[in-house]
Amino acid sequence: MTTMPHPGRLLRMSIVLLGLLPATAGAQDGETLFKQNCGACHVIGRRLVGPDLTGVTEKRSKEWLHKFIRSSQTFIKSGDPDAVAVFKENNELIMTDINLDEAQIDQVLAYLGTFGKPAEAATATATADTVPEAPITYTDADRAAGRELFDGTRALSARGPACISCHNVNSASLMVGGTLAKDLTEVHARMGHAGITGILGAPPFPAMASSYANAPITAEEAHQLAAFLEEANTRRTEVPARSAAVTYSMFGGGGLALILLLIGLHWRRRLKGSVKQDILDRQLRSI
Ligand code: HEC
Ligand code: HEC
Repeated sequence: MTTMPHPGRLLRMSIVLLGLLPATAGAQDGETLFKQNCGACHVIGRRLVGPDLTGVTEKRSKEWLHKFIRSSQTFIKSGDPDAVAVFKENNELIMTDINLDEAQIDQVLAYLGTFGKPAEAATATATADTVPEAPITYTDADRAAGRELFDGTRALSARGPACISCHNVNSASLMVGGTLAKDLTEVHARMGHAGITGILGAPPFPAMASSYANAPITAEEAHQLAAFLEEANTRRTEVPARSAAVTYSMFGGGGLALILLLIGLHWRRRLKGSVKQDILDRQLRSI
């Protein structure tokens, strides 16, 4: 079963044979590096967490790209107008610093360079991982399952840690979560389904990546967690007001009872176990 290669492919294959082999090998390693280090936030052909990078090697200089990839925040803070503009256009989402050396970045750029201009990308990227985005629907079952996964009521299938050990979400149905990492109440509004599931599929943040490296989150679980985060964001305005009042009165009433109890205990001890009593006891023992 052999199929005839597409004419465009034949052309590219013959260019390879004409002596561009090293560049293409670089692009292939670049593809692996790209998928590992950038894939959580970027795909070719459409936006994920970060923008579509199709044609970026033509739009920006090599030096610019190196600086941005090494440490986008340092570059943005230095005031480079294009870096500041792209940061603003992307809702000020933070691209993490990428720990690749010069040569590896060059390989990634060689790979990105194979996508040329946006128009070419449409044919160049008709691969399995860039299927067109289907409309996302969340069911009540998804939201409920996502909440249980988030707070650990139900374990993730690969037994990774519950999100709540590091993240908080402002939701009445949840106990207060961790503060090691960002509050996720608004994350769905900023990243959407694609961004959240992208991050959960290959977390680009070291603390999170190491937690799930050997315990990958399934696509279904990522979808359910996204459903819960969407709900947490859209319903948070009514919910916290009520829960805050309830919590306040609970702690208020309970706190008063506790204080009265402590005062009672204190005075009881004062009557029975006084200092004089202690001295007397010691003297009795020394006899
Ligand atoms: C944590 C998510 C994340 C990761 C990982 C990530 N990026 Fe980004 N990237 C972004 C975001 C978000 C932006 C938009 C700019 C901003 O908000 O700072 C961006 C912007 C860019 C830009 C500028 C695009 C333009 O139009 O000028 C380039 C180039 C880029 N990323 C390349 C990469 C490469 C290459 C990698 C991997 C080596 C990578 N990024 C990894 C999130 C990410
Ligand atoms: C071991 C700690 C840890 C665990 C567990 C963890 N995360 Fe994270 N997560 C982080 C860190 C660290 C970041 C990087 C951003 C920051 O510093 O808050 C992050 C970032 C994120 C982001 C991007 C936030 C943003 O605004 O850029 C999302 C979304 C996210 N985590 C979702 C989850 C979900 C859902 C779970 C549960 C399946 C989870 N995380 C479990 C530590 C963790």
